[in-house]
Amino acid sequence: MSKLYINGGKRLSGEVTVQGAKNSALPILAATVLCDGESVIHNCPKLSDVTASVRILEHLGCICRREGDTLIVDSRNISCFDIPDSLMREMRSSIVLLGAISARMGRAKLCSPGGCELGPRPIDLHVSALKKLGLIIDESYGCLDCKTNDCLKGTEIHLAFPSVGATENIILAAATAKGRTVIHNAAREPEICDLQNFINSAGGCVCGAGTGTVVIDGVSKLHGAEHTVIPDRIVAATYLAAAAMTRGKILLKNIEQPHLISVLTYFSEMGCVLQVKNKSVLLESPQKLSRFFEIQTMVYPGFPTDAGPILVAMATLSNGSSMFVENIFENRYNYVGELRRLGAKIKLADRVAVIDGVERLSGARVDSTDLRGGAALVLAGLAADGLTVVDKIHHIDRGYENIENVLTNLGADIVRKEV
Ligand code: UD1
Repeated sequence: MSKLYINGGKRLSGEVTVQGAKNSALPILAATVLCDGESVIHNCPKLSDVTASVRILEHLGCICRREGDTLIVDSRNISCFDIPDSLMREMRSSIVLLGAISARMGRAKLCSPGGCELGPRPIDLHVSALKKLGLIIDESYGCLDCKTNDCLKGTEIHLAFPSVGATENIILAAATAKGRTVIHNAAREPEICDLQNFINSAGGCVCGAGTGTVVIDGVSKLHGAEHTVIPDRIVAATYLAAAAMTRGKILLKNIEQPHLISVLTYFSEMGCVLQVKNKSVLLESPQKLSRFFEIQTMVYPGFPTDAGPILVAMATLSNGSSMFVENIFENRYNYVGELRRLGAKIKLADRVAVIDGVERLSGARVDSTDLRGGAALVLAGLAADGLTVVDKIHHIDRGYENIENVLTNLGADIVRKEV
């Protein structure tokens, strides 16, 4: 079991080049299943979720190799259509493979991932949309046994909620289906655009990503493609917060400013001075952070649910009361109890958190509860007086590449110990 030991109170400053986005890399790796060739994925982050994806791809028959930041996947000889339960459980987002495996093999077998640390994660929207495309799905005891009678066929799909995962699954299933598929009320997240770009480089025909209507004209097959994954907007927000909470200064490189606008707005409201240039942002923090008035999580381009714990952590050291409302997931405040151990003052009622800023946080022993909640605890530890030990950091390793090295380079006193 690894833990992070943080001696807080160091002012962070320096430069960070933001890693590739986990939430883009995973669906793009799923898309490689559709390719009859070799795919070269640049800026593919080294994360445990990516390793779990690679294990699944290898089980299916792909040959994968890494060269630095590039992952190369040869999907010519895929021969399996099942994902063993043990691999499925390693990564919730493996559900996004359902559409791709079904389309490539005409069959897919996997057990649904069930709930997770953020509460129930239903897949009803994925399942009903794939059924509309002609997939026959037999669901029993939480397992999905899927087959196509002939091939998948394009259709019109109206999503009741613009689910990111369901939109991705439909695009993947429809990319090689017969005819045209139109997704209404599609998710508009940047990661959907990245998936569209990969599929189109591989010979597919998808348009409209980034809007509420995505149109997919099925092609007979995809070939391999070369693609660079977009920067991770949540990781970017995390390192900005690390500087903001330690009265620091940071230059973030490799960002996409439009993807960050909804988050940067609140850094400004809290008193940080931001200079955004082409693909980079310089943040200078104030002596004391101001509170934010109210943040509500929304679908893109609204404030992302994944950045919630980051801004809540910042508010713990602000000069007043901030209100945070989580609208996407039911159970996203598990980390709040751990933040309180460091002296944070946070009241919770259902989906609302009210954070009363305190003068200082004090180091404590805490457990990561989930990926972004874990990142919030690291941020609080960096700003706290004394020693913070963050346990259960496998959650953090799902989404942050070498977090301790990045922070050490900024001047933090943080080490990973195997204990
Ligand atoms: C969500 C985030 C995404 C983030 C990802 C990783 C949103 C809208 N989505 O995507 O930005 O990158 O987590 O943390 O913020 N739902 C159903 N039935 C379904 C699918 C989803 O009811 O079949 C509900 C979920 O319970 C949840 C909401 O829809 O309340 C958002 O789900 P969805 O966008 O699918 O989640 P992810 O794809 O995991």
